[in-house]
Amino acid sequence: MALRSLRVVQDDILHKVSRPVVQITDKTCQLLDDMLETMYHHNGVGLAAVQIGVLRRLLVIDITEEGDSPIEFINPEVISHKGSQTGWEGCLSIPGKSGNVVRPNITIVRALNRHGEPFEMHCEGQLAVALNHELDHLDGVLYTQKAIEMRQQGDEDEE
Ligand code: NI
Repeated sequence: MALRSLRVVQDDILHKVSRPVVQITDKTCQLLDDMLETMYHHNGVGLAAVQIGVLRRLLVIDITEEGDSPIEFINPEVISHKGSQTGWEGCLSIPGKSGNVVRPNITIVRALNRHGEPFEMHCEGQLAVALNHELDHLDGVLYTQKAIEMRQQGDEDEE
């Protein structure tokens, strides 16, 4: 595994749309490993590949305090959303800020794992927040574009 440099807010790549992964190779798995290492290093709870400069539809998320339950999503697609919640979130690509954002309370998502196997996941609460935040990254959208309120130096978990 290797720690990768994070792309931050001034970088135009963060506004670009990521392309689907066509074939899952050793390189894809290496990339997922690097994304996890980079996310954990920065105490994040989620990371999209674009945040380390790769425009592919790959996400990693781990909302546990222990940081021992990583979830990997390749080519994630939303099946459905339900309800809404509003909460403070941050982003590793936007240091020192946080924003209050309205997100679905429940999102059902379909994706591939690193073995190329499809799975569906019911994401609720904080996991739904993290997932939807990361899904936005794949479409070049930052939470600052959706926040109903912003503040500096938030102490919330960063995604
Ligand atoms: Ni983010």
